Amino acid sequence: MAGPLVRRADFLMTLAYATDLATGHSRDFALRSCVLAMRFAEVAGLDENMRRKVYHQALLRYIGCNADTHLLAAAWGDEITLRRELHYIDIGNRAEFVEIFVRAITRKLAGASAEELAKAVEQGLAEGPQVNIPILSGHCEVAQRIAERIGLPEDIRENLGQIYERWDGKGLPRGLSGDAVKFPVRLVTLAQDAIALSDLHGYETMTAKIAERAGGGYETEMAQLFLDHCEQLMVGLDGPVDRETILAIEPLPHAMLDETDCEQAYLAIADMIDMRMPFTFGHSRAVAALAEAAGKRVGLPAADIRAVRWAAYTHDIGELAIPVSTWMRPNALTERETDAARLHPYHGERALSPLGGDGKAVAALVLRHHERLDGSGYHRYAKAPDLSPAARILAAAEAFQTAREARPHRPALSDAAAASKLRGAVREGKLCPDAVEAVLASAGQPARRNAAERPSGLTPREIEVLQLIAAGHTAKEAARRLEIAPKTADNHIQSLYSKIGVTTRAGAALYALERGMIQHGISAA
Ligand SMILES: [Fe+2]
Ligand SMILES: [Fe+2]
Repeated sequence: MAGPLVRRADFLMTLAYATDLATGHSRDFALRSCVLAMRFAEVAGLDENMRRKVYHQALLRYIGCNADTHLLAAAWGDEITLRRELHYIDIGNRAEFVEIFVRAITRKLAGASAEELAKAVEQGLAEGPQVNIPILSGHCEVAQRIAERIGLPEDIRENLGQIYERWDGKGLPRGLSGDAVKFPVRLVTLAQDAIALSDLHGYETMTAKIAERAGGGYETEMAQLFLDHCEQLMVGLDGPVDRETILAIEPLPHAMLDETDCEQAYLAIADMIDMRMPFTFGHSRAVAALAEAAGKRVGLPAADIRAVRWAAYTHDIGELAIPVSTWMRPNALTERETDAARLHPYHGERALSPLGGDGKAVAALVLRHHERLDGSGYHRYAKAPDLSPAARILAAAEAFQTAREARPHRPALSDAAAASKLRGAVREGKLCPDAVEAVLASAGQPARRNAAERPSGLTPREIEVLQLIAAGHTAKEAARRLEIAPKTADNHIQSLYSKIGVTTRAGAALYALERGMIQHGISAA
């Protein structure tokens, strides 16, 4: 197996980026909290082993928070806004806690009568613990399992089983108190609250609130130590924190992941993404299986096949920025929601591109997974020349798999209907015919008739034009030979260039040559 490829801390940052999105935290929240927690650990005189636990707790605290998000959204509506609001309050203070949940129900039932709202609030607050506690327990369990899958040892994982516990026993889900709550858990909770409160209220109010909560949410001595050094601890943390800083503060030893470990880490991310909603369970794994099989079928190099598989595992990581409550609605997205949803490939690229090894290649594919050959995709409106064979396969595999999965606003298509939908997209010049046929064949769909005679979805007329320009004719000459207007010939040329992924006559000629499409007897004269 290949030697070390990626520093594990890079994967932790990818996960941190994703969970910042999913929990409504501000930009670089987990990274900034990691710097603060590590500075605080230094001030507290913690040894290397304890600092290693603090480092991982800060970056990974929320990696289990995607579990059962649909239940949270069903009960309280927009769960990202709810989570954001919870970061700023003292959850041990019942009045503040209740106010946030009343606000969530009010948001969810916008437009309801006062009577309906009052009833829903009463019911929601009565049933809240039965809804929330199992969900939060699930977060802890899933966080520990994901940490195990990325190779983290038991002493780091056990802290992730206490992510919402507090010093005074008013935390969730088990109500642990005092020293039963692990030291790194308590320290990171305080550091993360400090960042969140400082972002919202500014430095002065943050320190006042930390002082208020001493002896409650936080151990008194710990809160006091933090406040004594607060100014120096918080220096520069109102701005972004870069990757190099996080790598530099990682306690030893620095774990490196080889190809097998990376496979496990990418796969763990796939499951983390897909477990937000029942209807996306297994989506990323299924896209990966299709894309990998199709890549092999068309003869992609091994490195491209690996990149496309890893990109398929992680392609929807940016979707964590969109509340599950939005995806669960049976009606169409609003314009604003559509805009936000269309940015998920952007977030995916940002989350993945800092990864070492194949990270950049993976990120480039994730960025393009909703792009279409004719520029009608999103979010960059890339066109054929910018879409590699691997990118075309990922787009086709994703489209096919999505079509055969049910969504709240539509039923699942049968495999045959999904195949016909994809072939329709080929006819419209959106998806690559070679990629689509490779994906469909990999999914056991019968081959399209005449596929061999009409590569890349070219129309018979486009094939004629291609043969002429490949033989050295100009557009004008081709128009004359085919007895069509020069403008029409030009349109055919633009369309066929787009379909076959070239931008020059030479590129088109090579394409025709490679496929045996050159017709002898078409002289350039
Ligand atoms: Fe997807
Ligand atoms: Fe997507």
